Amino acid sequence: SSESKLQLVHRHVRAFPDFPKKGILFRDICPILKDPAALTAVTDLFEEHVRKNHPQVDLIVGLDARGFLFGPLLAQRLGVGFVLVRKIGKLPGSTVSVAYDLEYGKAEVEVQEDGVAPGQKVLLIDDLLATGGTLYAACELMKKQKADILGCMVVIELKELNGIDKLKPHQVFSLLQY
Ligand code: PRP
Ligand code: ADE
Repeated sequence: SSESKLQLVHRHVRAFPDFPKKGILFRDICPILKDPAALTAVTDLFEEHVRKNHPQVDLIVGLDARGFLFGPLLAQRLGVGFVLVRKIGKLPGSTVSVAYDLEYGKAEVEVQEDGVAPGQKVLLIDDLLATGGTLYAACELMKKQKADILGCMVVIELKELNGIDKLKPHQVFSLLQY
């Protein structure tokens, strides 16, 4: 058909008002995972972006939990490894962690110390950019590891929350913007 890959992906994102709390319009990517053609389209679009803009990438770094759905598929396409940035307390062995502020309270993410070596060129991936707090903390982790951050990638960017500004100077590539 003549439908573009982006249109296909767009058709597989749903919006749920007032989830998980009143006033939040939740963008649900589950229909993408349920449709092999839509999931292939997402992976194709990320792969095209990386091959064109970051062919030197060494590692894809995915964020807990929905970055784990897209990251490994992309890493396999590119022939590079995938590393997990997890919420605190889930990873064995020596880890490095970074705490960050949420709308209410605090959160912390961590990576295994031997996950990323100094100088490795990394691309971070998640499903969605909102305030940017999560990706910002993950970038801080990568800096602690002395990684070379090439950029961030998300399926969805929520523009009104200005997450892009928070992540400067790192570039953010998104497939869909709301
Ligand atoms: C969501 C989403 C991103 C993050 C974006 O994850 O998957 O990781 O929020 O928000 P931010 O840009 O304001 O930091 P969530 O915290 O709901 O956890 P989950 O991945 O475990 O569902
Ligand atoms: N994470 C933070 N804000 C979100 C939203 N509006 N939809 C889905 N995931 C989110």
